[in-house]
This record gives sequence, structure tokens and C-alpha cells, in this order.
Amino acid sequence: RKITTLVATAALSAFLVTGTAFASPVVIKFSHVVAENTPKGQMANKFKELVAERLAGKVEVEVFPNSQLFGDNKVLEAMLLGDVQMGAPALSKFARYTNKLQIFDLPFLFKDMAAVEKFQQSAKGQELLDSLQKRGLVGLGYLHNGLKQLSSSKPLKVPADADGLKFRIMSSDVLAAQFKAVNATPLKKPFSEVFTLLQTKAIDGQENTWSNIYSKKFFEVQPYITESNHGLLDYMVVTSKEFWLSVPEADRAVVKKCLDEAIAFGNAIAAKKSMDDRQKIIDSNRSEIITLTDAERNQWVEVMKPVWEEFEKEIGKDMIDAAYKSNM
Ligand code: LMR
Repeated sequence: RKITTLVATAALSAFLVTGTAFASPVVIKFSHVVAENTPKGQMANKFKELVAERLAGKVEVEVFPNSQLFGDNKVLEAMLLGDVQMGAPALSKFARYTNKLQIFDLPFLFKDMAAVEKFQQSAKGQELLDSLQKRGLVGLGYLHNGLKQLSSSKPLKVPADADGLKFRIMSSDVLAAQFKAVNATPLKKPFSEVFTLLQTKAIDGQENTWSNIYSKKFFEVQPYITESNHGLLDYMVVTSKEFWLSVPEADRAVVKKCLDEAIAFGNAIAAKKSMDDRQKIIDSNRSEIITLTDAERNQWVEVMKPVWEEFEKEIGKDMIDAAYKSNM
């Protein structure tokens, strides 16, 4: 007992003398819902690696993939409570915190990822990173996944083919409106439930990127995938203002630098993965990939485009115009 007391006293004085002798590192729990072999999964692991290299003993990143820690609908709440420090939800999942990010869900707004990048890096795009400030969240950067495809139990060539079908969507009213425009029924469900909903045929289809369709095996339970490129699935890396300001300033700058580098790494993977995973799905012969003619694709554009006007007031016409111009 005496020895224990002695050891404790020694430890305490060491702490008092050096101040930091026993200070534990700041821990950043990074929670996400996708597999590790996806752009976001790889970006998060890279971020952890870079922080370990540059801030050993001071800041530590722990990554929790596959909805292990928190699913879509809980992560932001958990962040505000301090149960998790970072995440990168799809831009479609911020509806409870701001209307502004709905712009990224407008169907057929961006013709390719170069246009998306151009808009995100523009002054208007950067302005949107601050749209969560009032709610106590800080947008630290955008991360790409890619354009979405439509998968289904039935071949979808023209909008009429989707009539009456049930589609899982992320929690976004714009996405709901997009499916209502083709007389389909949208159902807001967490990502972690999609495979089972498809497998049990509780729903008929869903929309997602090639890397998500591949890594979560949706293609094994969806006989048709229409290469529609109709919408965007990108992310915002976020943290809580309270946590972010609690990180010592010098360390915070290094963390931000690590994050920027990890995002660039993730973006490069996103571009490549999109093509590679598409090919793997083709090679699997599990799913038929439907390519649309220009005339067929135009039909989808025609029926879905009115959704822009429906949300113009909430998003702002100037914002939509700026995003649209990034295609030029
Ligand atoms: C989805 O819910 O379909 C996506 O947001 C999953 C993800 O994070 O890529």
C-alpha cells in the first residue's frame, strides 16, 4: 500500500512539474457509414495515418467505418454532443441543419465531376461550407464520391418504367421530389439498411455511386443498373465548433493540413474507383448495365428538372445559377 502511494505521489509530481507528462492525446473519432474500400473509407484511413505521422502523442484519429459507431441519422447529433468528433456525411444528409446544401441534390445539375469541383472551389461553393455554423458545426472541406446511377429490380430506360416502384433515398426532400416526379415512391432509409431492403424486396430500387453499389454488394440483389449519372453523391467533412476550437491552434492547423491532403487523396481514388468498380460489376455478370440513348436520357431530364424550381426559394436562384454555370 505504501509503495502504491509512493508511486502515485511520484507520478503526480512528475505531472505537476512537466505539466504534460501524462496528458493524453486529443482523440478524433471519425465515424462513417461506408466500407473501407471506398473513397471516403480510404480518405479517413489516410487522414488517420497522416495525423499519426505528424502529431504523434498529441492528436490521434480513430476511424469507425460501416455505421459501426453511428448511422446516418445520428452522427451529427452525436457530434454536437461530443460523442464523435468528425464525420463526412453525404451532402444530402444535412437537411435538418440547413436548406442550402440541398443544391447538391438537384437532378441533372452537374454534367460531370469537373463541374462539381469547379463549383465547390468557387466563392459560392466555399460559402456553403459555412452554412452549418449557426448550428454549431464547421464544414472543413468537400470530398467527392461521384455521380449516382439508378439500380432496380426492373429495367429502367424511360421515366415511365419507374412508375409505382419504391426507391430508397437518403434523407433529402429534393431526392423525394425527384422520385415523385417520375411517379415512384421514395423512402428515406439509412445506408446500413439498403442491402437488406433490396434483398427482401421491401423496396425495388435505389440510387448510388458505382463504388457504393459495388462495395455494399447492391449489384448482387439488383439485376439492372441504369447508367444515368443523374445526380451527385458528395460529402462534407464536418466537426463541431466546440471541439474544433478546443484543439490547440498550432495542432489544429496541422490537422487541417492532414485533412486537406487526405481529401485530395480520397478525390483521386473516387475518380478511379468509379470506373474500376463499374467494370467489376460488369464483369460479375450479376447485373445488367443499361446505357441510355440521348433521347431516353432527355426524358428523365424533362420530368425531373421542375424539381429545381420547387426548391429555388430555399436554395437561392443565384446559387443554382452559379452551380449551373460551372458546367461551362
Ligand atoms: C448513402 O446513404 O447512400 C450514402 O450517403 C452513403 C455514403 O456515405 O456514401
